[in-house]
This record gives sequence, C-alpha cells and structure tokens, in this order.
Amino acid sequence: MGKRYHVTTFGCQMNVHDSERMRGMLESLGYEEASSRDGADLILFNTCSIRESADNRFVAHLGEAKRLKSEHPDRVVGVGGCWAQSVKDEVFQRFPFVDVAFGPGQIHKLAEFLNSDSLSAQGYFEFEDFSASLPTLRVREFQGWLQVSQGCNCKCSYCIVPSTRGREVSRDPAQLVAEAEALAADGVREVTLLGQNVNSYGRDLPKETRIGFSGLLGRIDAIDGIDRIRYTSPHPKDMKEDVIRAHAELPALCEHIHLPLQSGSSAVLKRMRRTYDRQRYMDRVSLIREHVPDCAITTDIIVGFPGETEADFEQTLEVVDEVGYDGAFTFVFSPRRETEAAELGEQVPHPIKVERMERLVELVQARAAEQAQRFVGREIEVLVEGTSRTDETRLRGRTRHNKAVNFDGEAEPGEFVNVEISVATSQTLSGVAAKPLSRLL
Ligand code: SAH
Ligand code: SF4
Ligand code: F3S
Repeated sequence: MGKRYHVTTFGCQMNVHDSERMRGMLESLGYEEASSRDGADLILFNTCSIRESADNRFVAHLGEAKRLKSEHPDRVVGVGGCWAQSVKDEVFQRFPFVDVAFGPGQIHKLAEFLNSDSLSAQGYFEFEDFSASLPTLRVREFQGWLQVSQGCNCKCSYCIVPSTRGREVSRDPAQLVAEAEALAADGVREVTLLGQNVNSYGRDLPKETRIGFSGLLGRIDAIDGIDRIRYTSPHPKDMKEDVIRAHAELPALCEHIHLPLQSGSSAVLKRMRRTYDRQRYMDRVSLIREHVPDCAITTDIIVGFPGETEADFEQTLEVVDEVGYDGAFTFVFSPRRETEAAELGEQVPHPIKVERMERLVELVQARAAEQAQRFVGREIEVLVEGTSRTDETRLRGRTRHNKAVNFDGEAEPGEFVNVEISVATSQTLSGVAAKPLSRLL
C-alpha cells in the first residue's frame, strides 16, 4: 500500500489554500490521504501565529504527533506555515521529533525533502516567488482560491504577518487569468481572490503588464463559468472608488465587502499604523453605501490595543453602531514576538479586555441581527454547500452577501437555488427553496 498523509490546517484562507496545494502535491507524489493522524506515515501541520491562542492550539496538537512518532519512529512529522516561519530552526530544538519545517513560501520544498535520502531535521525558510505549478486538491469542487499576491508591505504595529509572509509580490495577471480559466473549466463556480492586502494588487508589476485590482476583477468576471467572485482581505486605505463601483458593475462580483476596521479611535489607529483615521474609514463606508446600497459589510476589530482607553473603545462601539456591520470578527489584542505593539507600554489589563470584548460582541450581534432582517421575505440565490450542520434533513449554502443559509429543499452541492428567506439571526438565514418554474407547470 502507498504512503498516507494527514494535514491539519490552522489560520486564514491562505493557509487553507496552501494546504490544498500541499495535498495536491502529495497526491501527485503517490501519497493518499489518511482519515486520521494515527493512520498516516506523514503527519503535517500548516500553522498560524496571528495570536497567541493560535500558537497554543497548535502546540497542543503536536503532543499527539510526538506520541505517534515514538510508536512508529519512521513516521515523518512536518510543520509548515506562519508559526514555523516565525520560529524557524528553533522548531527542531523545541520539538526534536519534528523532521521537516518550512515557511508559507516553501511548500514545494516538501517534495524535495520527501524525495531526498536523509529524512533528518531540515528547515526551509526562504521567500521565493509563488510556486504556481503546484497542483491543488480542492476541499470543494465548485469553490476555488486564487492567490493574487503574497506577502504584505504594511506595517501594522500589532501584526506578525509581514515577517512570516515577506514583502508583497503581485502575480502576473495573465497567469492569474489562465489559472482562473482552468478553475472554471474544472467546475469551479465561485472563486475567492486572496492576498494579505488584496486591493493593493498590481502596484509592483512591470509597466507592460500592470493592471490594478479592479482591472483584475474585470478580467476574472469575463470568464465564462465563474458565477461568483469574492476577495479577502482588502485594506481600507486602498479601497478606491473603482473597486467599489466594480461591485455594482461586474455581474459575478458579490455584494459583500470585508473592510477591516481594527479600531474606531483615530488615536489608536495611528498607533496601529493603519494609515487611515475614523473619518476616512467612514468615507469608504459612505461610498460603498452610495454605489452598492445593499452591500453586506463585515469587519475585523481588535480590542485592548496598548493604551486603548475607555473613550477610545467607545469610539469603536460608535463606529460599529453607525456602520451596522453584517458581521465582525473580534479579537483580543495579543502581543506578538518582534512586533512594535508588543513593546508598547500601557498593555490593557486582561479583565478590561474581556469586559470590552463582551460589550463589543453584544453590539455587533445586535446590529447584525437587525441588518439581517432586510433579507426576510426576499427570494435569494444560494450556492449549496451540503447538509445543514445542525439539522441533517436540511441543506446549507451561502448567499452572495456571504450569509449562511439553512433551508428545506432538494439540491446538490455546487448548485444554485433560490431560497425564500423566512427567519434571520445575526449569524444565519433560514428558509425554503423556491420551486423551480418547471415543477410548477
Ligand atoms: N491581511 C489581513 C488579515 C490579517 S490577520 C488584513 O489586514 O485584514 C486577520 C485579523 O487578525 C486582523 O485583521 C486583525 O484584526 C487580527 N489580528 C492581527 N494581529 C493581531 C494581534 N496581534 N492581536 C489580535 N488580533 C490580531
Ligand atoms: Fe497584517 Fe496589516 Fe498586513 Fe493585514 S495589512 S497582514 S494586519 S500588516
Ligand atoms: Fe495566520 Fe499566517 Fe494567515 S499568521 S492568519 S496563517 S497569514
């Protein structure tokens, strides 16, 4: 029997996509996927280091890999991703049972390692061009990722990503269009463009091939078979009018914009080095509301950034109230190694962080629930993803606004159905599939 692998993925969509590429690469080497770690010859972790909790979660899993390795010493344990990059060769000192470690830009080196004679502690941490040639094994046939750039040139003072993913490099537009065409030909109906700062795409391209982010969106929209386009994450500073208008003009581009706020206080934003203030952020929101009135807006917010006062925090609450987000990811500030914010004095005491988080989540959910009522009574297009997580007799999918919907009806994953929405909460919608016309006749 061939060798088996098992991958555990932590972190953001970029890691999900990188894991798909690892799986594709391993299958092309003749490996098969094992359903659990104890059935695997190769145990892989694709790690994240964005917050301390991400580190801890992963280290807890590593314990099991250590035990499995001691039972079968010829098992190979590999650690890839941002955590590996941020600690580099220290991995082998701290966890001597790890055989191979590699950063996010070095996935292809895993193949080199597996084909080499000596399977002893080996680390790969260079920043190289995106290795586009890797095959991918998608989680869902009808949904695909398209990584438009790698790295990040921003200097957000709390963030570890620039040190784990390197400088920003945009990929060639012709290569991206070809990749999107290949995805469409392979059955992908919804494509999500990925970048740490996805809308700064193109600035570093040579003049002859340079197009901006809205230009790229237009090229992807023109591809037959791609019915939905999403992207994540844009930076408010680069959210220009052409990109916002594209949401109104391009049929495939979904009515959803994730616009990370981080804080509603201009003083905090300045110390975060976000390069916009509260007013400029709100101007972006107004522009979105003007061009795409029904657009869903979601965000990321950090509470308890060093020096955040009660008054600063209340400004965050004000913005949340004013914007009326359809949803928000909320994070307690976590000091990260070698970031500027970790060195700032005035760390906010933990109980205050927790108390602010509770108030924030309450407001976010209340406003999201209110916003969601606009969908009740509407018939909305849903891309079916599978059965409902809470009720096996129902189906689950997503709207163009990126709302999860649980509904009654019959459809296969990957199909589009119209659903009449009857109930809306802050998180999900619920309804019944509308009868297709043919069945009524
Ligand atoms: N490049 C993307 C994603 C960054 S990570 C962007 O800029 O939007 C996703 C979110 O994690 C960030 O938006 C931020 O809200 C949060 N985050 C990043 N570093 C953090 C830290 N040190 N502590 C708490 N939250 C953090
Ligand atoms: Fe981190 Fe800021 Fe870059 Fe996002 S834009 S990855 S938060 S440095
Ligand atoms: Fe985590 Fe790296 Fe993504 S730190 S959030 S996996 S870019």
